[in-house]
Amino acid sequence: VPICTANVQLRIPFPRQPELVSSDPMSNVRSVTGAFRFIDLFAGVGGFHHAMSALGGECVLAAELDPACRRVYLASFPDMPAERICTDIRQLTRVEPDAEADELDADEIRARIPEHDVLCAGFPCQPFSKSGFQHGVRDKTRGTLFFDIMSIVIACQPEYVILENVRNLAGPRHTETWATIIESLRDAGYRVADEPVVMTPHLLSPEDGGAPQVRDRVFVLARRLRPASSEDERHGIQLVARQPSDGWDPDWWRIKDHLDEDVDLNEYGIRPIEQTWLDAWQAFIQGIPDDTLPGFPLWVDAFTLKQRIPNGTPQWKADFLRKNSGFYARHREFIDEWLTRTWGPLNLRVGDFVPSRRKLEWQARKAQPGAKDRDLEGLVAHLRPSGIRVKPPSYLPALVAITQTSVLGPRVTGTGWRRLTPREAARLQRIPFDGFERSGVNDKTIYRQLGNAVNVGVVQYVSEALFLDGDAPWSRRHETLLSVAG
Ligand SMILES: C[S@@+](CC[C@H](N)C(=O)[O-])C[C@H]1O[C@@H](n2cnc3c(N)ncnc32)[C@H](O)[C@@H]1O
Repeated sequence: VPICTANVQLRIPFPRQPELVSSDPMSNVRSVTGAFRFIDLFAGVGGFHHAMSALGGECVLAAELDPACRRVYLASFPDMPAERICTDIRQLTRVEPDAEADELDADEIRARIPEHDVLCAGFPCQPFSKSGFQHGVRDKTRGTLFFDIMSIVIACQPEYVILENVRNLAGPRHTETWATIIESLRDAGYRVADEPVVMTPHLLSPEDGGAPQVRDRVFVLARRLRPASSEDERHGIQLVARQPSDGWDPDWWRIKDHLDEDVDLNEYGIRPIEQTWLDAWQAFIQGIPDDTLPGFPLWVDAFTLKQRIPNGTPQWKADFLRKNSGFYARHREFIDEWLTRTWGPLNLRVGDFVPSRRKLEWQARKAQPGAKDRDLEGLVAHLRPSGIRVKPPSYLPALVAITQTSVLGPRVTGTGWRRLTPREAARLQRIPFDGFERSGVNDKTIYRQLGNAVNVGVVQYVSEALFLDGDAPWSRRHETLLSVAG
């Protein structure tokens, strides 16, 4: 994989996990510890904690409601005293931890939370009430967990605030929510950009903390200003743009390099019915002689010469039906024969498959440009509710709580079709697996936890930009070490 070395020297190096990158002369930068203190709210399995520790931070308090997450957290950070991990964030901010309870005043909040420089929170998104509009931004968020975060920010005044959420938070349907978050931080004396920082691990090179997973997340990066700061100063610039890190091309990822060998197919292999679907479509893509397969979804139900398009059918759907008809007409002989074949132990015809498995989205042209190259077994298949989507074996879609999405072909895994193991899923989040292992939680729980977690490399990348912008002493320390190392 080509690596831009100039870029590596300019940046703060990412402390690598040993299994991702083998030797690195600058990896000793990681030895900076305790340079700053942070709190980890909505801590999950500690994505923020791993990133902040790698930058030299010490966690002085975490809050996480879910007992299974807390187990993994404790097992991941054995040096952290258990009493520093509380359950409900509202225990820190309210008289009673329920939605209606009175808020504690600033002194009482400070008495419960150790001093800290950085506040991290990947918080659940709840709608803010609009009715509070006349009463100011703080009232608008009352009763939500964001309100509790802001109570802590206002009481404790950390230097930096790093919030994380799903990408939609910065989308057109949430403009009001977004504006309220930004306004709340500015009201509290913080500098923050109007535009969200959106980043995904697959756009970052391995040196910059990347991983072969598309996972767009929104970050709010805020820095405390002097009390007398002007309104202008509160409008920060967007610190990170959503683009590949210098010199990196995301198509250079090869998922194969991030997989384990000797994975037990009895445990992680696909089900016989999934094999049946994939075998049928393998014969299909190999039977079509054209070098280029269409980019529109191929739909067995629309393989007919006389397409009936009812009045009122949306234009996009009518086009898609007509294109499928045209495709069928060109390859009628082969397709008719393929439709009569039977597959798998149940001898199913393709027409008997469940509707979502009668549709194929071919998105693998980059990896397999010609008819001769075509082989599902060298690709990744996403068994989506809308159809089977096949993609190059470069990077995977976002890990989500459910596990039945991506399956990896035998030429990718080196064995048979299978899903990611929990250990591999953790690697895609750059979260060390040992904590999960020690905690003893089951696979299903691990997939769920990882599907909710934040990607460690991305947090580290965007936080570094914030710390450098704020001229944080610990970022200068990194720079000094870097110039010595370089
Ligand atoms: C999106 S996840 C954050 C995951 C985390 N960033 C990570 O890397 O694993 C949100 C977490 O907030 C926790 N949570 C929800 N309500 C909470 C509350 N009132 N107090 C503390 N934690 C809460 C959930 O259990 C969940 O683990």
